[in-house]
Amino acid sequence: MEKNNTPTPHNAARYGDIAPTVIMAGDPLRIKFIAENYLENPVLYNEVRGMLGYTGTYKGRRISVQGHGMGIPSIAIYSYELFNFYGVENIIRVGTCGALRPETKLGSIILAQASCSDSSYGETLGIDRHFSPVADFGLLRKAAETAEKMGLEYEAGNVMASDAFYGSSSKTDWAKLGVLGVEMEAYGLYINAAMAGKKALTILSVSDNVVTHEELTPQERQTGLRNMIELALNITL
Ligand code: HPA
Repeated sequence: MEKNNTPTPHNAARYGDIAPTVIMAGDPLRIKFIAENYLENPVLYNEVRGMLGYTGTYKGRRISVQGHGMGIPSIAIYSYELFNFYGVENIIRVGTCGALRPETKLGSIILAQASCSDSSYGETLGIDRHFSPVADFGLLRKAAETAEKMGLEYEAGNVMASDAFYGSSSKTDWAKLGVLGVEMEAYGLYINAAMAGKKALTILSVSDNVVTHEELTPQERQTGLRNMIELALNITL
């Protein structure tokens, strides 16, 4: 463990400040919301670049919550440091996605079993063949079981992590290949977990439908996010 690498240029935490299990979200204000509404005794350990990170307890169990920003390069930096410099074992990302199938309901949950991508991140790290980044099966199974217990509507399957939010040059019909949704980070997170020998899972709340162009109202979006956050927290117990 490279303890001497902490703090880092992106994270003010010292080795030991961060729990072995971290819930991450793109938006640091969503992290503040989780810390203030769900954690007991949250302690802020980072505000470099506004990428808030807190450690506290959830139902007595020590966990951390931290922002990761938007896109693969951003989550790659934060998750790399957590896995390789801070001794983090599990990262659960909570985010939103666009559904690629008309029947997927807004506000429902997609568990990203695996991720395809238009990103060159794997190649950049020296993976020169078609590696398939996957979620940790233990975390995935626990998420599915917990979602069932909580009565949440969910699907599990492949997602597409795109480098572009606006526009795409891809000719592939991802939905035809069974891909459930599009987001921007799962691929980078899963590659980093694989390379570090650690565990990761991405849980997504469907915020819009790419086919039907339906979108959640701000109120519905909040309910969907709360369901997803509570699911992620319950997995850590
Ligand atoms: N594309 C990428 N990321 C997203 C989307 C989308 O349509 N919706 C929510 N996150």
